[in-house]
Amino acid sequence: MLTKEVRDSFFEFYKQRGHKIIPSAPLVPENDPTTLFTGSGMQPLLPYLLGQPYPEGRRVADSQKCFRAEDIDEVGDNRHTTFFEMLGNWSFGDYFKKEQLPWVFKFLTDRPEDGGLGLDPRKLYVTVFVGDNENGIPADAESIAIWEKLFAEKGIEAKYVALESNEQGSEKGMQGGRIFSYDVRKNWWSRAGIPSKMPAGEPGGPDSEVFYDFGPSTNSGQARHTSGFGKECHPNCDCGRFLEIGNSVFMEYLKKEDGSFARLAQRNVDFGGGLERLVAAVNDDPDIFNIDVFESAKKELEAGTRKTYEGNERAFRVVLDHVRAAVFLIGDGTVPSNTGRGYLVRRLIRRAVRFGDELGAGQGTVSNQSTLSMAGQRFIEKYMPTYPELAGKLEFILGEIEKEEKKFRVTLAAGVKEFETRAKGGRITGQDAFDLYQSYGFPLELTEEMAEDRGLKVDRAAFEEEFKKHRELSRTASAGVFKGGLADRSEETTRLHTAHHLLLRALQMVLGPEVKQRGSNITAERLRLDFSYGEKLTEEQKKKVERIVNEKIKEDLLVVRSELRKEKAEKLGAEREFGQKYPDTVSIYSIGPQSATPEEPRFAEAFSIEFCGGPHVGRTGELGRFEILKEESVSSGVRRIRARLL
Ligand code: ALA
Repeated sequence: MLTKEVRDSFFEFYKQRGHKIIPSAPLVPENDPTTLFTGSGMQPLLPYLLGQPYPEGRRVADSQKCFRAEDIDEVGDNRHTTFFEMLGNWSFGDYFKKEQLPWVFKFLTDRPEDGGLGLDPRKLYVTVFVGDNENGIPADAESIAIWEKLFAEKGIEAKYVALESNEQGSEKGMQGGRIFSYDVRKNWWSRAGIPSKMPAGEPGGPDSEVFYDFGPSTNSGQARHTSGFGKECHPNCDCGRFLEIGNSVFMEYLKKEDGSFARLAQRNVDFGGGLERLVAAVNDDPDIFNIDVFESAKKELEAGTRKTYEGNERAFRVVLDHVRAAVFLIGDGTVPSNTGRGYLVRRLIRRAVRFGDELGAGQGTVSNQSTLSMAGQRFIEKYMPTYPELAGKLEFILGEIEKEEKKFRVTLAAGVKEFETRAKGGRITGQDAFDLYQSYGFPLELTEEMAEDRGLKVDRAAFEEEFKKHRELSRTASAGVFKGGLADRSEETTRLHTAHHLLLRALQMVLGPEVKQRGSNITAERLRLDFSYGEKLTEEQKKKVERIVNEKIKEDLLVVRSELRKEKAEKLGAEREFGQKYPDTVSIYSIGPQSATPEEPRFAEAFSIEFCGGPHVGRTGELGRFEILKEESVSSGVRRIRARLL
């Protein structure tokens, strides 16, 4: 099956079961300063898992674009990618285990002509939660019983085995089992990980995963499992025999302030299935880089390097993954830079250049378009039917990739030479790495990787001066600080979010209605709003904007959330997020007028109306005093304001 067919079948399956199919949210989350990128399907839907009513009902399904920077070093094996699509279905306090698990099983095992993926049930193994005494969370006996019955219906006796997992997973092995239980490390899901790592206010729950068995040996008869992966093989083993293809999280717990766990007001299902992995399972080929979405880009790379994928898998996979990720990240507005999200895109492209060159990709082809950019183009063409917005951005995306590649190439050869010279000394010092970064644009991680290839270590300790700033940057950007990510829903952030709405409206009043939001970032300390406007603001304009916002705060206006048909919200002139697609029913926040009540929001006279999922304060009087800290240019035609509340 093709990737598109698997995605479409999933949508159809859940549509038939009352789910609303919603578009993927962008890779860059709005108003969530603690998360660099959307890394799972549930992230954009968090408010609804916590109880806020979803405008279009309690059953939702989608395919969410995800980027996990923390997996960058894993790329190169048969199953890890930084970018992937996660198929998801959600129950917001509607159905639970006894519907979810049979649906998962049915979708995976029904024949394609009946709407399923046609996987052989004998190749499926499942895991469940063994319980957590410390936090009083019981073992998931219900899921075990459901799985036993489902396998029995297929004539498969499914033995249950409790695995006491240690750091490596388990010493006990398969023991003829089909259903396995693991502890919090494997079968508990929250954005923060295990229960003890969850902050107060965070939802989570036991999960049940499905694994596809590619068999104990490869086509050439080699055993997949070796002692390096642990004594015995089992579903969560990393040897490559088993691939996790779906995870049903039963999100019914909430971490409390005192560290204990309470039940959420509603029981949710959060299912995530890696789309590329599902396709690989359908093809019964453990190498996900062999699925159709990589095919044309892979051919391009083979043509540009005169090398075959076979025999050069690692480098091909790195280039294919990084170029695809860069295409989607740039498509969602993140261009290469030296900070934050942009730094990740820079790292991806520069790493792809280095691995591409190892294959002999070099500078370019006869058409003067580089091999990487050609590969990027093939990805755009491949994904256009699903993500039509890529079409309009083709030139922009490829232009950014080429620009970054060119920039790096100016110094790359000289940098590699310099690296070689310094490596001859038997070590790469912090100063060396810093020089390579400063003078040749080598991201620190690239130097570290090159050093590792030669069995050398970069002396990180020596960074402590020069590298302080850079280290912080690369640490946050890459080292998993943002793993899963935690939305900051603190009071301060919420207040600044409301101030953000007031500010945008005030800017339109002072500068003109054509001013539109182009970006946003809010932390507990300050808000940042990027908006379209061609000139530097005068002191007088800034004062005026501040005055308007502070007046609206003083008026103590009501902030109301409403759900409306999208067309109605558009008619009211509600501000939309740039580049965002919206479902048919939307959530909007309106502020003012003074006569507004929750029952009668009086949209026509509102001071501000925006498409927005919240959260917000109840009244503007809660905000305090508003102050603009800085106004500056971001790029041509886009300005940025930083502001705070005192
Ligand atoms: N939220 C779950 C995951 O990301 C489904 O694995």
